Amino acid sequence: MIKLFGIIFKNRVFIASGVFGFGLKYKRVSNQVGAIFTKGITLEPRKGNPPPRVFETASGLINWVGLENPGVEKFCEEILPKMNKLHTKIFVNVAGSEVVHYERIVERIGEQVDGFELNISCPNVKEGGVAFGQDPKIAASVVARARTKTKLPLIVKLTPNFCDPLKIARVCIAAGADGISLINTLHGMVYDTGRKRPLITGGLSGPAIKPFALYCVNRLQGLGVPIIGMGGIMTGQDAYEFLLAGASAVAIGSAILRDPYAPLKIIRELKKMSNKNGNS
Ligand SMILES: Cc1cc2nc3c(=O)[nH]c(=O)nc-3n(C[C@H](O)[C@H](O)[C@H](O)COP(=O)(O)O)c2cc1C
Repeated sequence: MIKLFGIIFKNRVFIASGVFGFGLKYKRVSNQVGAIFTKGITLEPRKGNPPPRVFETASGLINWVGLENPGVEKFCEEILPKMNKLHTKIFVNVAGSEVVHYERIVERIGEQVDGFELNISCPNVKEGGVAFGQDPKIAASVVARARTKTKLPLIVKLTPNFCDPLKIARVCIAAGADGISLINTLHGMVYDTGRKRPLITGGLSGPAIKPFALYCVNRLQGLGVPIIGMGGIMTGQDAYEFLLAGASAVAIGSAILRDPYAPLKIIRELKKMSNKNGNS
């Protein structure tokens, strides 16, 4: 067990946003992880982008899902009551195309969850998303305004796409963030040589991004708030490396798309590694 943000978590292995829906299909997995970060929730429902939405690359995955989700009303009415029966902590990943959307979503959801992850790092939407996370002023404003609407933990999910996450993390913490999660996906592209144009432009995830993700987590050491590290974690050894690099907990993303039970394997392997190395 670990305590972060004043909350007790079962363990340090969480599920990253967008790869497990709302955790209702594989309850055995949901009930054993420390926390679940939901799919990104927007003010209005979103259908997401047309296909192709995912493409497997040499050592990772490019996705262009585009924040498909039911919108905050349906989420609160139909999904949240079911999620609240799970035996894990629930963090809602909040996304918006305008700054004001974040505070509205946080306010609407209220105290029905354990906390929020403000997604200012999605590369797959036209407005908002990664553009908010690259601009220190907008990032701080999203956090400060959401802060006025909740006393629950506010984690900010950062991008390292064309900006320094350390600079953005500092302003977010000054604006009231309780923690930082990173990294979201990196810009990526697959080319269609037949048609001589891109086949898919989206967010790269998976083992290909792990070394960069580790570097980013390590760069944020010493900020005084918990860091949730993610990016290409496939094994307990990967998770352990993130903890050594300065993360307080880790989140599993693309590994789940290959094997929905991956978090359970990672929890077991991490426990073994930690015992062997004398860590808790
Ligand atoms: C299909 C897919 C959908 C995702 N959707 C979201 C999302 O809605 N919100 C978000 O903050 N991150 C989203 N992400 C990013 C992941 O939460 C994670 O930050 C990223 O994939 C890096 O971790 P990984 O390499 O372990 O997958 C998504 C990733 C994938 C692969």
